[in-house]
Amino acid sequence: MCGIMGCVGKSGRKSVIEVILDGLEKQEYRGYDSAGVALRCADGVKNIKIVGRVSELVKRVEECASECAGTQSGIGHTRWATHGAVTVTNAHPHESCDGMVTLVHNGIIENSREIRARLEADGIKFVTETDTESPCQLLARIYSGDARSAMSELCRSLVGAFALVIMFRDRPNEIWCARTASPLVVAADGSASYCASDPTALLDYTHDLFFIEEGEMAELTPNGVRFFDFDGTSHGKSPIHLDWDSVMTDKGRYDHFMRKEIEEQPDVLRLTVDTHTSLTNVDMGKSIGLPADMMKNIRRLQFVACGTSHYATLVARDIIESLDNSLDIRADVASEYRYRNVPGGADTLAVFVSQSGETADTLAAARLARSLGTNCIAVTNVRGSTIDREVEHTILSLAGPEIGVAATKTFTGQITILTLLALYLLKEKGSLSASDEARLIGGLRSLPAKLQAILEDEPHIRALAKKHSGSKGFFFIGRRESVPLTMEGALKLKEIAYLPSEAYPAGEMKHGPIAMLDEKLTVVALVPGGDLSDKTLSNVEECRARSAPIIILTTEDNDDARDFGDDVISVPRTEREFFPFVGLIPLQLFAYHIARELGRDIDKPRNLAKSVTVE
Ligand code: G6P
Repeated sequence: MCGIMGCVGKSGRKSVIEVILDGLEKQEYRGYDSAGVALRCADGVKNIKIVGRVSELVKRVEECASECAGTQSGIGHTRWATHGAVTVTNAHPHESCDGMVTLVHNGIIENSREIRARLEADGIKFVTETDTESPCQLLARIYSGDARSAMSELCRSLVGAFALVIMFRDRPNEIWCARTASPLVVAADGSASYCASDPTALLDYTHDLFFIEEGEMAELTPNGVRFFDFDGTSHGKSPIHLDWDSVMTDKGRYDHFMRKEIEEQPDVLRLTVDTHTSLTNVDMGKSIGLPADMMKNIRRLQFVACGTSHYATLVARDIIESLDNSLDIRADVASEYRYRNVPGGADTLAVFVSQSGETADTLAAARLARSLGTNCIAVTNVRGSTIDREVEHTILSLAGPEIGVAATKTFTGQITILTLLALYLLKEKGSLSASDEARLIGGLRSLPAKLQAILEDEPHIRALAKKHSGSKGFFFIGRRESVPLTMEGALKLKEIAYLPSEAYPAGEMKHGPIAMLDEKLTVVALVPGGDLSDKTLSNVEECRARSAPIIILTTEDNDDARDFGDDVISVPRTEREFFPFVGLIPLQLFAYHIARELGRDIDKPRNLAKSVTVE
């Protein structure tokens, strides 16, 4: 929800303006309805804002190049509107009415109305509809030459979530930052200092990053960064080294990041399995510092996540249940878990899964669980993210940076890590037999080659996508291990093609959804071979009898299934638990090619943001 960028000093290869615009482009996935920069030029601060994409902003800044000569510092913002319509006036950066403070913000200021009313009563004129203008005007009112104490007073007056990046008119070589809840990362390379919402925006300059903590402020100058608590006390801080390669954030030869990231999945799987297993053994304890006896006394297992990450937890739940039904397992979306009267305590293990590590609801859910004395593990893709720092045990998914808003390779990374974690925990608990362990690890090891083969079937899937792109909607149906995948397949179509698509356990179709079927609503039936194939095919037959076009996604061993579909996608056979791994790529490619057919903005779908940092 909104991307922030700031730079002060002389960055080696790039101008400050290039640093800021590049950073906004890299973070555009966080919000893209309007954008702006404030640049400190020879004759003051130049504020340039547009409604639209960062590419439009780049053009506008180029048009103003002569006025921006000699820019030594600046801040920028790409917006996902929460308070106030999408207009140039509401776009960030915001400026106080006396021009002393220029500020960008990610988050929601919950007491903005009170602040505004107070300041308006004092005669301050507000010009925007945003919650952000309140801290901007308030800071200008407080400031009287001492930036540290003004920042401290401001931060202590605000309620809500904020990452703030600020320039004062009379402090040309400083940028100030502060954070509560919304993410913010800063870095320095000796001649310039930088700040951003997302670490990927800083990797061109350094890999040693300082993640701003809750209740922490920072002062950036060309010579480095100083850190303070909200009460103004300064403190030291060590950087975290992030070994992501900046090439990973490049689109390369692909038209879309999403397509590139789909193709990276065999490698993500291979790397993850190799990292946490030896030949036939899983061992996560040593590599992630999990106490060996963590599982012994656990009676309850709770998975908590949002969106695609939630569907990944449903895959894990099925795998655990298939091996050991003695645990009381639940898998909740974080926005529900955090407000429910959930059980917790020493006999409970909660696993929080978040690609970004910054999803507001997942963070709040983890805080709740910790307050109950529940044992907590975080699974995240971002080293140094808030969840990584707050939860005692973190397991990194090794997918590398994901730029496309619709999650693809990180889902594969999550289900791989969660499968390994499940095996490790059950082994510790004494309920995983050596033969099951060897069988399943062998199964995992065989998956990358199978995923590669599936990628080669793309022309066929593209043709199907073209054929069905005129459908008025889609139903995804399946049973047991296929159910999480029906949800993920339907979500991909909603996210990037904007088409109505629903997921149902096949047995539920008769309880309502079947009424919607006709020849314009396509049913995608997930029917791997195995014990439930015949039952699912009966449900498919019922759909066929209502004239719905049918696509069957099946495994190569399931000859029976072929006759039931108008179209068939066949994937290699796997262990029954691992069907989600092989069924996933066809569904991702199907959504991708339908979205292409329909001319959608695939990497930055409308109304969405990759990282949802507000409730
Ligand atoms: C947003 C993204 C989804 C993602 C969800 C959870 O909705 O668009 O792709 O699955 O957030 O994000 P997280 O970073 O917590 O996994």
